[in-house]
Amino acid sequence: MKDMLRIAIVDPSDSTREPLRNLLLGVESVWLEAECSRYEFFIDVAKQSNPDLVVITLDSDHNKALQLIQTLTADFAHMPILAVSARGDGQSILHALRAGAKEFLTAPVVLEELLQALTRLRTNRVGADGMPASNGQARVESSVVSVLGSRGGVGCTSLAVNLGVNLAQDSNHSVALIDLDLALGDADVALDLVPDYTLADVALNIDRLDMTFLRRSLCKHETGLYLLPHPVQMEDIALIHEDHLSRVIGLLRASYTHLIFDLSKRFTPTDWTAMRMSDVILLVAQLELTSLRNVVRMLHTLGNEEGLGDRIQVVVNRVGSEDGEITLKKAEETIGRPIYWQVPNDYKPMLGARNAGVPLLTFAPKCKAQQSLVALANSLSGKDPQQPGQKKERRGFFSFR
Ligand SMILES: Nc1ncnc2c1ncn2[C@@H]1O[C@H](COP(=O)(O)OP(=O)(O)O)[C@@H](O)[C@H]1O
Ligand SMILES: [Mg+2]
Repeated sequence: MKDMLRIAIVDPSDSTREPLRNLLLGVESVWLEAECSRYEFFIDVAKQSNPDLVVITLDSDHNKALQLIQTLTADFAHMPILAVSARGDGQSILHALRAGAKEFLTAPVVLEELLQALTRLRTNRVGADGMPASNGQARVESSVVSVLGSRGGVGCTSLAVNLGVNLAQDSNHSVALIDLDLALGDADVALDLVPDYTLADVALNIDRLDMTFLRRSLCKHETGLYLLPHPVQMEDIALIHEDHLSRVIGLLRASYTHLIFDLSKRFTPTDWTAMRMSDVILLVAQLELTSLRNVVRMLHTLGNEEGLGDRIQVVVNRVGSEDGEITLKKAEETIGRPIYWQVPNDYKPMLGARNAGVPLLTFAPKCKAQQSLVALANSLSGKDPQQPGQKKERRGFFSFR
């Protein structure tokens, strides 16, 4: 149960306790340790269950609830209290905080606000010994990677899928791939998955979205990677708005350690939303003129928006595919920044894996491209920041120059 937040709730009213319980049950990192319908009994419940966090709904009887918060604060100083009330006025909040609550949420509780409060409480949690709790640093927010192409067929889906699968091999990771090539995406084909739900279902249900529904909408691949596919019907693309996507990304971040977006190549509003919410944008190029020219244009456009340009890392795919290709040095000069990663041309395994609907990990785990993409996954998760070989030889692992 490492990383799990064990919670006990008290709320005498069934009509507010049940939705709150359902909301909490949907949060992956939450374990509902105890539920209580009487303020008077809760001290005993807390003693027996010794939860990491207590949620107290005030509205059945504010005085009793505030009294309970005071007693709990005195008896269990290390047990943070989250107070919930429909009365979100300044006075009510102040009373709850003065009694000893660490956080206050207005009912009905909104999932995003609950997640934010839980994250703050986790981070600040102090153990009974006065030291920060060992899992206080658990799941902060996931790392979010956009894979953006500099022209059609440059290798975005291949990179996104295999990167996702490779990241998912670490048992500490939970990785979701979101296919944002809404019209023509094929991440589902690359993984041979027939999804029950797509982004369109999520968008249609956006107003009653909770973690349970959202997680059910992702399809699990046998390698451990989760996929949220593009809509099946092209007509449904119109259902997916940027604000839906930003809400979905916000929620997925609380549940997965890594999110990967396979973007379209049309700079759609959803692509922009995803890039704005990404920590890293992998801009995929090849060593030929059209692609490199587009890289320059894209760097310029993205660089116009504050904060975006710095997140871009250029990945050159299919290095070594042709004799006449532009050299890496020339490419770096043209785009005016260093190339972050090189993925070698590995035609047979790449095409074979795609046609078989399996990732490289299954189809050709030892091939050059897969080795490079395993190292890229490690680099992105901070395990080994450099491309193998670059430590010894600055010019790169695959010495095609
Ligand atoms: N490193 C590589 N070596 C050889 N072929 C590759 C490599 N990366 C991608 N490909 C091939 O290029 C084609 C297009 O790749 P894809 O990932 O679908 O690109 P995109 O998503 O950018 O349109 C696929 O047939 C794929 O097998
Ligand atoms: Mg693609």
